Amino acid sequence: MKIVVGADHGGFHLKEQLVSWLIEEGHEVEDVGAYRYDQDDDYPDFAIGAAKQIIDGNANRGIVICGSGVGASITANKVNGIRASVCHDSYSAAQGVEHDDMNILCIGARVIGYELAQLIVESFVASNYSGGIRHQRRLDKIMNLEK
Ligand code: RB5
Repeated sequence: MKIVVGADHGGFHLKEQLVSWLIEEGHEVEDVGAYRYDQDDDYPDFAIGAAKQIIDGNANRGIVICGSGVGASITANKVNGIRASVCHDSYSAAQGVEHDDMNILCIGARVIGYELAQLIVESFVASNYSGGIRHQRRLDKIMNLEK
């Protein structure tokens, strides 16, 4: 699975840790920045960058990290075809993929630490969309809104 990862200054250090770990775990990782800590950078730049990699077919899933995860989520969801959410627990990370076909996981690095983030990312990456009739019906309603 190819995973695109991005973060602003609020998520920069956690991103660096997660990128190293994901590569060690054998994932193909595309890092869309930030590439250095810059307290004046803006989360939309990295959330949009990650979203575009998915929409362009260059990555299967994305992880975007900011201070709370909220700004990253708001931004990513503006891109048609992106289904992003803040998840700070493993259950939501798994169910978000299984029921809602979530393709971007947003994390707040000021809310949770590295170890919990790892567990959440593991759930996100290990899960697959169910394709169930009721789940697809709900997704179709969301996709109709995007037209
Ligand atoms: C940056 O200070 C912070 O506002 C941002 O990382 C994020 O938490 C926004 O939702």
